[in-house]
Amino acid sequence: MLDRRLFMAPMAGLTTQAFRRSVRRWGAGLVHTEMIAAMGIVHGNRRTLDYLACGSDEHPIGFQLFGGDATALARAAEACVAAGADLVDLNMACPVRKVVKTGAGAALLGAPEAAEAAVRAVVAAVPAHVPVTVKIRSGLREGDEAGRRLAPRLVAAGAAAICVHPRTAAQLYRGRADHTVTATLAAELPVPVVASGDVDGRAAALALLDRGAAAVMLARHAVGRPWLFREILADGPPPSNAERSAEVRRFVAEVFATMGPRGVGYLRQFWPRFRRARVFERELATELMKATSEAEVSVLLARLEAPRTA
Ligand SMILES: Cc1cc2nc3c(=O)[nH]c(=O)nc-3n(C[C@H](O)[C@H](O)[C@H](O)COP(=O)(O)O)c2cc1C
Repeated sequence: MLDRRLFMAPMAGLTTQAFRRSVRRWGAGLVHTEMIAAMGIVHGNRRTLDYLACGSDEHPIGFQLFGGDATALARAAEACVAAGADLVDLNMACPVRKVVKTGAGAALLGAPEAAEAAVRAVVAAVPAHVPVTVKIRSGLREGDEAGRRLAPRLVAAGAAAICVHPRTAAQLYRGRADHTVTATLAAELPVPVVASGDVDGRAAALALLDRGAAAVMLARHAVGRPWLFREILADGPPPSNAERSAEVRRFVAEVFATMGPRGVGYLRQFWPRFRRARVFERELATELMKATSEAEVSVLLARLEAPRTA
C-alpha cells in the first residue's frame, strides 16, 4: 500500500544530493531539493545555482522554489526543468521571517491573488508533463483556515497536487501537526493531497493514507535515520549495525565528494542524530562534532570499520 507513496520532504540545509541519494537507497519514492530562491536563480547567483545540481540517479525528484514574484518563479521553474526536475513544487509554507518578509513562503497563504498568479505563471512556463505542486501550511495562525481556503484556488490555477504541513506558520515546528486539516483537504480537493508532519513510523504513515492522503512525507524523523524508509515500507526491524555503519560511511563520502570542505559543518547536524540512532557511541559523536576537516572525520569514522555485530 505504501510502495512509492513515501516521500522525502524538502528541508533547507539538509536535503542535499548526498542526503537525497541516501534516503533513496532505503526506498524513498520521491525526493525533494532544499527550497531554492527563485530570485537567486534569475540573478545567476553562484551559490543558488549550485542547488540545481542533480544526478541522473536521483529521479524522480521535485525541485522546490520559493519566491513572491510570479515572473521570477516562472523563469526559475524553467531552469529547474532544464536541470532535471520531474516536478516543481512551490513553497507557500516556510514561516521563517527572512523569507516571509519578502512575500514568499507562508506569506502567500495570506495573499491569494499573488499565490494564484505564481501557480499560473509556473504552470505556463513548464512542459505539460511536469506537475506543479504547492506545499502549504494549515494557516498563518490558529483558526484562520488560510490553507483550506487557498488550496482550491491553487488547484483552479493549475496545481497538480497539494502538500500540506498542518501546523500554522505561527507554530513554526512546535506542537503536533493537525491532520484533521489533511483529511479535510483530501476530501475537498479534486487532486492528490500529500501529508507532511510527525510521520515517525509505519502506523503514522498508514493512518494518513487512511485519512485520504495520496502520499506521505518523512522529514525530521529521517534525518540521521535514512533507513526509516525501509523500516516503514517493509514493516521490519532497523537494519543491522553493519548496514547502518556502511550507510553512514557512504553518505559521508558523498557529502565530501559533492560539498567539499563545507561538508564538515553540514555533517555536524547529523552526528548527534546518528548517535541517537545507535550507529555509534556518544564519545565518537562528541569527537566528530569537533572535527574541522575531511581528514579528521575520516580518521574518526575508521573506527566504524569493524562494526559491532547487530
Ligand atoms: C530544518 C528544517 C528545514 C525545512 N526546510 C523546508 C523547506 O526548505 N521547504 C519546505 O517546504 N519545508 C521545509 N521544512 C518543513 C518539512 O518539509 C516538514 O514539512 C516539517 O518538518 C514537518 O514534518 P515533520 O514533523 O515530520 O518534521 C523544513 C523543516 C525543518 C525542520
